[in-house]
Amino acid sequence: MNSQTWWFVARASGITAWALATLSVLWGMALATRVFGRDVTAPWLLDLHRFLGALTVTFVVVHMAGLFLDQYVHFSLSDLLVPYSTTWRPEAVAWGIVAFYVLLAVELTSLVMKRIPKKVWHTIHLSSFGLYVMSTIHLLLAGTDAPNLALRVAAIASMGLMLFFFLYRFIGPGKVESVKTSGKAARRPAGNPLGA
Ligand code: HEM
Ligand code: HEM
Repeated sequence: MNSQTWWFVARASGITAWALATLSVLWGMALATRVFGRDVTAPWLLDLHRFLGALTVTFVVVHMAGLFLDQYVHFSLSDLLVPYSTTWRPEAVAWGIVAFYVLLAVELTSLVMKRIPKKVWHTIHLSSFGLYVMSTIHLLLAGTDAPNLALRVAAIASMGLMLFFFLYRFIGPGKVESVKTSGKAARRPAGNPLGA
């Protein structure tokens, strides 16, 4: 095995994790704003969102495992989990570590969402916007591939989409459909655990 294999694994899985996190946030906003229509009840819409979330966590874990196993720039367990513990681009890496904790909080609270107050779940869920921002800063500061044109175009395109959906969700027509403002079970598509 090439001595840099794990480093390549870490980089490829990092890019995949970032793309999946971005898609999870965008799909979540599409769900919350009922962009597919108020009467769309297909359970696969939520299932796909759940799947994207779980896949994001999986790829972040692969990303971290790749860094741990790599002998090119060696990361210890504390370097992986404690911000500013590593001497390798500490600030750039810290953004990724904090993003990882936010992702864990969003995912774990979602797995037990039926057992915790809806407001608590939703407040934590909204921190995934911060997760997107932090992981994008992390990509641009830490990534060896950050100067790559395709990756830059993807990052800029994602920011445009995010801004559009964000305005649509919090200022535009999507606002009235949000979990925060509606609170009415009748508006929830069947199969949505929030509507239970
Ligand atoms: C088991 C995992 C997850 C479940 C069950 C879940 C569930 C949901 C549900 C039901 C909604 C729609 C809320 C509504 O109807 O108004 C939603 C929205 C959303 N989700 Fe998730 N989600 C999960 C994971 C994730 C992850 C990992 C992310 C981010 C990386 C994420 C980001 C979002 C965002 C940004 C919204 C829109 C929130 C809003 O604008 O109010 N979700 N999620
Ligand atoms: C939500 C969590 C995370 C996401 C989405 C993410 C994503 C990324 C992305 C997209 C890159 C650029 C890859 C490249 O340019 O080829 C990267 C690089 C990197 N990440 Fe993360 N990361 C996350 C968490 C972490 C954590 C917890 C660590 C812990 C140390 C970490 C350490 C690194 C390092 C050292 C690099 C540089 C590798 C390179 O040269 O490209 N990341 N990450």
